[in-house]
Amino acid sequence: MENTDMKNIQWFPGHMAKTRRAISANLKLVDAVVEIIDARTPMSSRNPEIDTLTASKPRIVLLNKCDLADNNATNIWVNYFRRNNVTALAVDCKSGKGLNKLMTVIRTTVLKELMEKREKNGMANAPVRLMILGIPNVGKSSLINRLAGGKRAKVEDRPGVTRVKQWVKLKDNTELLDMPGVLWHKFDDQSTAIKLAFTGAISDDILDIETLAMKLLVYLAENYPDSLKERYKADFSENDSGLQLLEKIGRKRGMIISGGEVNTERTAITVLDEYRSGKLGRITLEFPPKE
Ligand code: G4P
Repeated sequence: MENTDMKNIQWFPGHMAKTRRAISANLKLVDAVVEIIDARTPMSSRNPEIDTLTASKPRIVLLNKCDLADNNATNIWVNYFRRNNVTALAVDCKSGKGLNKLMTVIRTTVLKELMEKREKNGMANAPVRLMILGIPNVGKSSLINRLAGGKRAKVEDRPGVTRVKQWVKLKDNTELLDMPGVLWHKFDDQSTAIKLAFTGAISDDILDIETLAMKLLVYLAENYPDSLKERYKADFSENDSGLQLLEKIGRKRGMIISGGEVNTERTAITVLDEYRSGKLGRITLEFPPKE
C-alpha cells in the first residue's frame, strides 16, 4: 500500500481482534451466519477472515444493492458462490427486493439438515437464530430494518463507539444477532480501497477527487462504454485518457471556470455522485477470479 496516497485508510488491529473474539464467542448462539456484501464489489466489500471465523456455521451471502449492480455480473457472482458451496442471494435492502425469499432459502437450503433434525425431535418451533455480519455501509442496518419493520436507530460502526450486541426478534420465529464492532476489509492493496471509494463505502479522500473520478471513468470507458455515452452524450473516443474523459464531461455539462478551463473538481464530484446513486446505470466493479 502506498501510504502517501492512502493516508486515510487505517487498519485497526486491536479493534479487529476484539471483533474477531466477539464473533467467535457468539457463534455458538446462532444457527447460521448472514454475510452481507455489496453486489458491485463482492470481493472488496468483504472481510476474507469471515470464511475461517465462521467456518463452523452454515452461511448465506447476500449480494446487497443489486439495484445498483449489473444483473449479468450479479448472476455470475451468485453462480460463483454456489460453485464454491456457499448459498448466495441477490437482494436490495433499500426496496426490499429479494428479501421475501430469504427466510425460505435459509430454512430449506442453508439450514435444511437442522430443520429436518428439529422436525424429527419435535422442535420445529424452535427459533432460527442468525448472526448478521458485514463491513460498514454494506447495508446491515437496512437489512435489519427491512426484516424487522420500522426504523431502528442507526448505531455507528466505528472504532471508539461502544456498541453492544443486540437481538432483534422477527415475526416468523427468527432472531437476528446484530453484532457490535467493525469488520473492515483488510486493505492489502490499493485497488480494493479505490473500488470501495468509488462506491462511497469509504471516504473518497484516499486519493484526490479528480484522480479517483478519472480512474472510475477509465474503468467505465473500458467496461461500460455505452452507459458512459448514454449518460454524458459527449464526444468520447476510444483512446481518451481519464483526464480527457473528465474534461469532455465537464465541458458538456458547462462546468467551466474563468479562462474557459473545465472545473475538474466539480466534474469529478458530479461523476462520483452520479455513479453512486445509480444514474450511470447498473455497474459492477469486479468479477470472480478465473477458476
Ligand atoms: P450499514 O448498517 O452496514 O453500515 O449500512 P446501512 O444499512 O446504513 O446502509 C448504508 C447506505 O446504503 C445507506 O445509504 C442505505 O440506504 C444504502 N443501502 C442499503 N441497502 C441498499 C440497497 O440495496 N440499494 C441501495 N441503492 N442502497 C442501499 P445512506 O445514503 O447512508 O442513507 P439513506 O440514503 O438511507 O438516508
